[in-house]
Amino acid sequence: MKQEFLDLGKQPIANRFLTKDEFDDEFFFDLKVVFDKETKLVSLKEFVAPEMMFNENYTYHSSTSYPMKEHFRKTAEMISITYNPFNNPFNVLEIGSNDGIFIRNFNPDNTIAVEPCGNFAKMTNDMGYKTYDKFWNTDLSKLIKQNHGKMDLIYAANCICHIHNLDDTFKAVRDLLSNDGVFVFEDPSLLRMMERGSYDQLYDEHAHIFSVTALDRLLERNGLTLIKVDNLLVHGGSNRIYVGLKDRYVVDNSVSNNLMNEKSFGLDRFETYQVFAERVNKSKNDLVSTLKSLKLEGKKIISYGATSKSTTVFNYCGIDNSLIDYITDTTEDKQGKYSPGTHIPVVSPDEGFDESVDIAYLGAWNFKDVIMNKEIEFTQRGGKFITHVPQVMMFS
Ligand code: TMP
Repeated sequence: MKQEFLDLGKQPIANRFLTKDEFDDEFFFDLKVVFDKETKLVSLKEFVAPEMMFNENYTYHSSTSYPMKEHFRKTAEMISITYNPFNNPFNVLEIGSNDGIFIRNFNPDNTIAVEPCGNFAKMTNDMGYKTYDKFWNTDLSKLIKQNHGKMDLIYAANCICHIHNLDDTFKAVRDLLSNDGVFVFEDPSLLRMMERGSYDQLYDEHAHIFSVTALDRLLERNGLTLIKVDNLLVHGGSNRIYVGLKDRYVVDNSVSNNLMNEKSFGLDRFETYQVFAERVNKSKNDLVSTLKSLKLEGKKIISYGATSKSTTVFNYCGIDNSLIDYITDTTEDKQGKYSPGTHIPVVSPDEGFDESVDIAYLGAWNFKDVIMNKEIEFTQRGGKFITHVPQVMMFS
């Protein structure tokens, strides 16, 4: 049985930055969040059709972020050393390969990619990696097995949480994994979201926010075993989940440690989510009243980073151009466009992050350290950042 605990109102496609002529027929859906009593899975109540989000117009280029590039290079190195120490022939498949940020660290001769966004699929095909321009499911997994045989590593980052049907997803993995193969995937952590009050992890693309508790159950019922968990800092707190076929690997202590931590936080109980919903409501009131009083003082407020996360915040809190003058973002595809739903203009930092800015709302709060290091001049001249994570506060 699924129980609703949070209503974030009408929300648009979080990563679709628009031109003015696209305002009128913008798509919105009800962003409500549910807890499944049986599996303990947290999901959106209403899923958005995948084709609306992941198509040839998808703009999220993973490789534009240097910290993420480094993250995936190190991940590829660590996985190769751990699971293929003697550099044997090793079949690799990535589900959701984006612009090739991860697979570029592997040999194209035995690396396959799956990417439903046509623009990115073309990019990795051009790089020499056979890329299937399709959504991941059991039909595709059968086709790949026929064409390329079984896989020794199946990898996915910030992708499995996008897929609505998890039973089919995990079955597709099980059927394609070699006997000693490993399935590694990373996605935002529910525990970290709940601890930090970072409700902006919830948007159309994130159909689920995973706890280790829920994954343990879902994997098990599809013939897979959770063998290890790494807690990561990326994307505001993620878990890297390692999975093998049943009884092929010794289960690492990190699995029971994570299950224990989640139980002590109460992730298996509905009441915990009700408390979280109250915190989210307070966060909204605090953010709006802080921005309004700064505005009354005559401060110029902008937002730093045009993120999917900030789409959730701005639409839930009703923050538009009357509070935030514009958003600065380094991504060229977003510049000159408007934020989804509340239509705040996006400009390049060169154009917009100048002496006139008093306050910068940290839309990209997950890159706080990188940004603080980069913007010392801003804080030294009295500029302040504002964030809602873990609670609404200003800092410099
Ligand atoms: P993400 O949180 O979804 O990864 O998106 C981060 C966004 O923030 C991306 O559009 C790039 C932008 N950004 C900046 O504009 N300046 C920065 O210094 C950093 C780190 C990110």
